[in-house]
Amino acid sequence: MGLFPYLGLIWMFLQASALQSEMRIKPLIYDEQLLWVSEGPGEVSTYRIPLLTFTPRGSLLAFTEARKTSWCDIGAKFIAMKRSENRGATWSPTSFIVDDGSLADGLNLGSVVVDQQTDSVMLIYTLCFHQYQCSPSSTMLVESLDDGLSWSTPRNLSVQLGVKSFAPGPGFGIQKRLSPAAGRLVVCGHGTIEGDGVFCILSDDHGRTWRNGGSLKSIPYNQPKLSQDFNPDECQPVELQDGSIMINIRNQNNYHCHCRMVVRSLDGGETLPIEELRFDQTLVDPVVAAGALQKDNVLFFSNPANSQSRVNLTLRWSLTNGTTWENDSVQIWAGPSCYSSMTSLVGNAVEDKKYIYVIYEKGHKNCVETISVAKIQLYGGR
Ligand SMILES: *[C@@H]1O[C@H](CO)[C@@H](O)[C@H](O)[C@H]1NC(C)=O
Ligand SMILES: *[C@@H]1O[C@H](CO)[C@@H](O)[C@H](O)[C@H]1NC(C)=O
Ligand SMILES: *[C@@H]1O[C@H](CO)[C@@H](O)[C@H](O)[C@H]1NC(C)=O
Ligand SMILES: *[C@@H]1O[C@H](CO)[C@@H](O)[C@H](O)[C@H]1NC(C)=O
Repeated sequence: MGLFPYLGLIWMFLQASALQSEMRIKPLIYDEQLLWVSEGPGEVSTYRIPLLTFTPRGSLLAFTEARKTSWCDIGAKFIAMKRSENRGATWSPTSFIVDDGSLADGLNLGSVVVDQQTDSVMLIYTLCFHQYQCSPSSTMLVESLDDGLSWSTPRNLSVQLGVKSFAPGPGFGIQKRLSPAAGRLVVCGHGTIEGDGVFCILSDDHGRTWRNGGSLKSIPYNQPKLSQDFNPDECQPVELQDGSIMINIRNQNNYHCHCRMVVRSLDGGETLPIEELRFDQTLVDPVVAAGALQKDNVLFFSNPANSQSRVNLTLRWSLTNGTTWENDSVQIWAGPSCYSSMTSLVGNAVEDKKYIYVIYEKGHKNCVETISVAKIQLYGGR
């Protein structure tokens, strides 16, 4: 046989290890742009609660609450949107896709969920979440079938779900890719201060009908909370490679730690069993909405990584389904930073494998000054 086959094998081995080290994740911020600046001219006081999604046609859509008169969570708002058709290089002017008029307790975002079988983009939000000078609270949905260019009139999901204060996300809902329940839409959120906890709503018919799925209720349920009570709050689901759903949760009253709660659903969001609940001591958190994203077997997490203050917006990643986190992390912004959410394009282009996008609240004195989107090259920093 001679030496050549062996040399060939050695060469292949070297190539494979070169490829592996080449694919080591070393994120670098490739580009960053301010999408919205609060206190600018116009009819908006404050932009808060940013969401970001891919679309099946390869665009990016960014959404935020545009709070009309103050920075407060209650009050009248628009939903503002910008689109990018060139992987985040440039963004459209703002369009206001929902206007709640002059409600005392207006709309709150929200979860964006994409159905890749119908190309539908759905945005789910709440009206009257705090029940301030209004009742009841309603879960609402608007839908785009043309890549975010136009939006339906709002549909009231409380008619199907029953009346309950439910604040989706903030972040994205998922469409299950794997069994159990492939194709299902799963949107998770939390309840009002007292009836708090994490709740998921499910659709098995591409968003036409919705029903209540699993819940992880607060303790004491339906009663005011004290510091360190068990109070799961804003949350972000992702689907793992084994078809389970992992939900990363804001630990509102710092139960057990100043860190994130994580629960898994093994049945497509029907139940959130307490046996699957854990506390991730590595993911230190100041009590805030955070981002999570699963891409090509890597789990990403973004939050202001500080146990006391909303500063230090940091990206972490796990190669072990969230069991452990890599020691490297990337600081996206040292200063005030609050809510964040992530997405990545799902096309087969090499470009789309290389980048993730983080949208977050960013400022100098406080985090409500701007909403920024960072495009991150995953294999950039070597
Ligand atoms: C939504 O539907 C519920 C249940 O029928 C109803 O109580 C509520 O008033 C509706 N909300 C809006 C904004 O129409
Ligand atoms: C920022 O986050 C990193 C990673 O968790 C941590 O090592 C560092 O101490 C944090 N800095 C501040 C000021 O919170
Ligand atoms: C992550 O989950 C997948 C699917 O269950 C599994 O194949 C893989 O071994 C897991 N990785 C680790 C490091 O646990
Ligand atoms: C991360 O750092 C800790 C503490 O320095 C060390 O024990 C651990 O081996 C490191 N893990 C990896 C994957 O490098």
